[in-house]
Amino acid sequence: MPAPARTLFVTTALPYANGPFHIGHIMEYIQADIWVRFQRMQGNAVHFVCADDTHGAPIMLKAESEGITPEALISRVGESHRDDWKRYHISFDTTHTTHSPENVELAQSIYRALAARRLIATRTISQFYDPIKGMFLPDRYIKGTCPKCGAKDQYGDACEVCGSTYTPTDLIEPYSTLTGARPEMRDSEHLFFRLSAPEVAEYLQRWTAAPAPGQALQPEVFNKVQEWLGDGGRKLADWDISRDPPYFGIEIPDQPAGAPAKYFYVWLDAPIGYLAALKKHFDSGAARALGESRSFDAFLADPAVEQYHFIGKDIVYFHTLFWPAMLHFAGRKTPNNIFVHGFITASGEKMSKSRGTGISPQRYIELGLDPEWLRYYIAAKLNSHVEDIDFGPDDFVARVNSDLIGKYVNIASRAATFISRHFDGVLATPAESANDRANRLTISQMDAEAARANYEAREFGKVLRDAMKIADRINEAFDAAQPWVLAKDPGARDRLQTACSQALQGFQLLSVMLSPVLPQVASRVARELFGLSRDFTWNDAWAEPARIGPYRHLMTRVEPRQVDALLEAVPVTPDPSPGDGKGASEAPARITIDEFSRVDLRIARIVAAQAVEGADKLVRLTLDVGEAKPRTVFAGIKSAYAPEALVGRLTPMVANLAPRKMRFGVSEGMVLAASGDGPGIYLLAPDAGAAPGMRVK
Ligand code: 2FM
Ligand code: ZN
Repeated sequence: MPAPARTLFVTTALPYANGPFHIGHIMEYIQADIWVRFQRMQGNAVHFVCADDTHGAPIMLKAESEGITPEALISRVGESHRDDWKRYHISFDTTHTTHSPENVELAQSIYRALAARRLIATRTISQFYDPIKGMFLPDRYIKGTCPKCGAKDQYGDACEVCGSTYTPTDLIEPYSTLTGARPEMRDSEHLFFRLSAPEVAEYLQRWTAAPAPGQALQPEVFNKVQEWLGDGGRKLADWDISRDPPYFGIEIPDQPAGAPAKYFYVWLDAPIGYLAALKKHFDSGAARALGESRSFDAFLADPAVEQYHFIGKDIVYFHTLFWPAMLHFAGRKTPNNIFVHGFITASGEKMSKSRGTGISPQRYIELGLDPEWLRYYIAAKLNSHVEDIDFGPDDFVARVNSDLIGKYVNIASRAATFISRHFDGVLATPAESANDRANRLTISQMDAEAARANYEAREFGKVLRDAMKIADRINEAFDAAQPWVLAKDPGARDRLQTACSQALQGFQLLSVMLSPVLPQVASRVARELFGLSRDFTWNDAWAEPARIGPYRHLMTRVEPRQVDALLEAVPVTPDPSPGDGKGASEAPARITIDEFSRVDLRIARIVAAQAVEGADKLVRLTLDVGEAKPRTVFAGIKSAYAPEALVGRLTPMVANLAPRKMRFGVSEGMVLAASGDGPGIYLLAPDAGAAPGMRVK
């Protein structure tokens, strides 16, 4: 095996192990996978790894709310992640988890190295603490009344109503969203990474200006980072890297005897998970199987090894400031570059990682849509900038059907049929002069070279636009030769064979160019059509095949109704729900336990109930949900209940329903009642023993 030209260590961001992938995750994997597959085709050695990001309070609390251990949660989610990587042909060489011995060892060793350089400081901070839950509250679990406009139930950092920003301690009547309790201020000792140290600021100025020889951050990323660094890095604040128990994470070593344990904040151990995954990749023999004979340490000590991280624009801060600083001051290799992409929207509507609306990648597969369609579509939209891209259903159908099928696949299906039928699979271009032949091969080389440069620069949209121009050129030449006419004329055999052979040679060039995007189709083309016993490499782009195997159908068109089904909330395929005689299409779509657990059902006591003037169906309920303040809920149950008969009753309520402004006031939740086709409304009630505030699950 000749020595590889370059050796690359490539990652995507590590996904949180708290739920299935959204389309945004899949977009990032596709982007990175295309680049990696392209690099491999160049003969470069690539070590492409990923891991689940498993630590932190949200995962701990989510597991708790499901009544399972965090380990059980992350293992269940991990399985779904691995399934999806496979289904979308994401070719990680190794996948791992941040909840692993490798990560513990590396996180502790990096921490110790930073401490040895006196870059870790201890400081007492005052923080909100939930006395019922017995834990310090991350900001996202604190809500209260906006200090500026008085809007209720606002998060601790900003008001969604008036837009003002503040800190959680500014909130009026703050409460813990975990228990409803009023949080107390408590002191605790935290550890900080001293980003404000002059040497750190100075280093980050240098790294962000030129992360590695020949490398620069994307201009928009660079500008943002300069803003954060401020004048000479003076704006950087020290970074709080410790968390108090209870916390699901990695214990911080070397703490004073007798002191309570401290854990690394999840964002400290998450990027170290890149290295943990790489270490597993080496220790498991997977790196060796790729021809890498060095140890993990020797590999990372080699300055010629290039390290790249693909990430989304929301986590640039961590990757361009904390991460290179951590690595550099721990005496380790730093990233050669960080490749940042934007978000993906569906028909212009924003999709978010946490809300997970939009197109479900799992449903996409379950509906039988081809993952390579999505890879192609996303690739066609990607460039090297931090731009958002949009998934438009009509656009998707058009790109797949007219580009992929109508232009690309069409070449092979038409030309190969003639070659098989009339020439027993033998390709030749006898009607071509030596000069023409040389020209044709030179053009193929130039096309391949342009695609090479664009792939390298992550300008995938350009690659595909060029590929479709080439496809147009090939189809036009083919049509101009009128092979269906030539096939009827025994004297035109040479010309028929030439026209079809040239089209197929062009098809081979296109297949090589599209290989990183369409790995499965390209692999079939290489093996079935061109008889190779391997996948394409880049140099196959201008090779001259001598014969082809019989053409077998490569890819089908997408039906618009398949995309409609993808965008609908309710499954169109029958869902085998046992005992449901009516058929599943009338029932809401199935949900997972994760989705169900997002509904915060609580027991409430009705402490007051009044008819609402001007609304003949509504009752105004005052509910005790075990919180500091009772809630007001408007319920459409007056036809069935006299308000006074309700007082004192217990009933389940949806406690995390977004507050709804009504004509008579704000409704802060919903009580649950049964009803059928006929008249009658039946409020639910728990068995004796249930108390206000209890969670229903
Ligand atoms: O934002 C996220 O989804 C994080 N889980 C990304 C972590 S990337 C790396 F630092 F691990
Ligand atoms: Zn406000």
